[in-house]
Amino acid sequence: MRKVVAGNWKMHHGPDAAAGFLSRFRPRGVSETVELILFPPDLSLRAVRKAARVPVGLGVQNIHWEESGALTGEVSAEMAREAGASFALVGHSERRHLFGETDDQVGRKVRAAVRAGLVPVVCVGELLKERRAGWLADVLRRQISAFAGALEGVTAFMVAYEPVWAIGTGETATPEDASEAHAIVRETLGARTPAAILYGGSVNPGNAAELMSAPGVDGVLVGGASLDPGVFAGIAEAAAG
Ligand code: PGA
Repeated sequence: MRKVVAGNWKMHHGPDAAAGFLSRFRPRGVSETVELILFPPDLSLRAVRKAARVPVGLGVQNIHWEESGALTGEVSAEMAREAGASFALVGHSERRHLFGETDDQVGRKVRAAVRAGLVPVVCVGELLKERRAGWLADVLRRQISAFAGALEGVTAFMVAYEPVWAIGTGETATPEDASEAHAIVRETLGARTPAAILYGGSVNPGNAAELMSAPGVDGVLVGGASLDPGVFAGIAEAAAG
């Protein structure tokens, strides 16, 4: 199976910077072995699509669950699809913890993504205090059960395990931690088979190969290290082996 290497730019890289990134993003030898996906800010989707020199899947970082409406500042899954996105991140920990997104809202967003023909990439992960309290499995099961119902019979979806304590901190889960959590995710999903389960949290070119060789880790979701074309290419090349 091809490894997935996805970059979440968060609130970085407007259209000009996005075009500049793509003109310099030239990973070597990855086209057959790695599935590349970028999640730029919505306003940069078009620039990424136009400037990409290598095949890159396009995704949005957030969607609303309604198709349209008086919802100032929101974007629907259908609009994202029309603008060229094929993937939607749902339930990123920054959405959950900085913007108060609930498990219920995550479920609705996953349903909306599927409705619009987007591949949801649903993020789950525990806080440090939850891990320390021994609640890893409980947290993952609770988060997954909130959206699993939206995925009956759906195979075009991914889950990203992103321990909150490892996001943007330089602190990475060990390959064993990642494998353990991925096994819980897989078991909780039961008959719903994801296209991939990704690991995210301080992935860089130095740790990517080891993380991706851990059992059950199908790829990585990269934040900070996806912002530089050379660094992100290094991770893609690590995934290619
Ligand atoms: P990070 O972010 O790689 O900067 O830790 C990962 C993410 O938030 O998806």
